[in-house]
Amino acid sequence: MRVFTLPRFISTLGDEESRKALSEFSVERNLDVQRFIRESAIPYQKAHNSRAYLLVDDSYRLKGYFTLSLACMRIPEGISNTMKRKMRGYGRNSASTVPCFLLGQLAREDSTPKGMLSLEDIVDMVTGYALNAQEYVGGRFISLDCTDELVGLYEANGFQRINKTKELNQMIMFIA
Ligand SMILES: CC(C)(COP(=O)(O)OP(=O)(O)OC[C@H]1O[C@@H](n2cnc3c(N)ncnc32)[C@H](O)[C@@H]1OP(=O)(O)O)[C@@H](O)C(=O)NCCC(=O)NCCS
Repeated sequence: MRVFTLPRFISTLGDEESRKALSEFSVERNLDVQRFIRESAIPYQKAHNSRAYLLVDDSYRLKGYFTLSLACMRIPEGISNTMKRKMRGYGRNSASTVPCFLLGQLAREDSTPKGMLSLEDIVDMVTGYALNAQEYVGGRFISLDCTDELVGLYEANGFQRINKTKELNQMIMFIA
């Protein structure tokens, strides 16, 4: 599996072919994730809101994707002081919000077998990019939001749940 940034994917495949690949990307289990890559990935990229990473096979077929961006997380009330200290890091003893990397979207395309691309593979790639960004700007953890069904899967891949909002669980993984 090869990783292409969105601009590189577009310049490699050409405008028409790449837009077709994005618009046909199918994730029936999560239509928000499907809609994002079909409709929002390019405008978000142009606005520098986030970066999309496209996972392609040797024939340039789109098999999955994830997005990374900068975010600011409010420290949840109900967590331990140890966890609060860990999230804040040195010198931010009373900060109520902390910066982090946001893993906003991720998916394997429906027709792609798990053996070809799993969450473990995606998290490995995400961690690599986050560690690269950390070299330049710092950053202590990666965060994501997910529904209840996916909490166990993310826990098995290095994330821990720190909070539950109305429908979503806030998960984080330290990289420092
Ligand atoms: C998330 C994903 C990459 C994980 O891949 P994986 O490591 O190969 O794991 P699986 O696809 O086998 O999924 C593990 C379990 O989670 C379930 N699951 C996966 N996505 C789900 C979703 N969106 N809603 C509910 N359950 C989901 C699977 O049905 C499976 O359940 P099972 O173990 O009872 O069979 C892949 O499932 C996927 O692309 N899902 C759709 C997109 C998505 O939901 N992204 C996450 C947004 S937070």
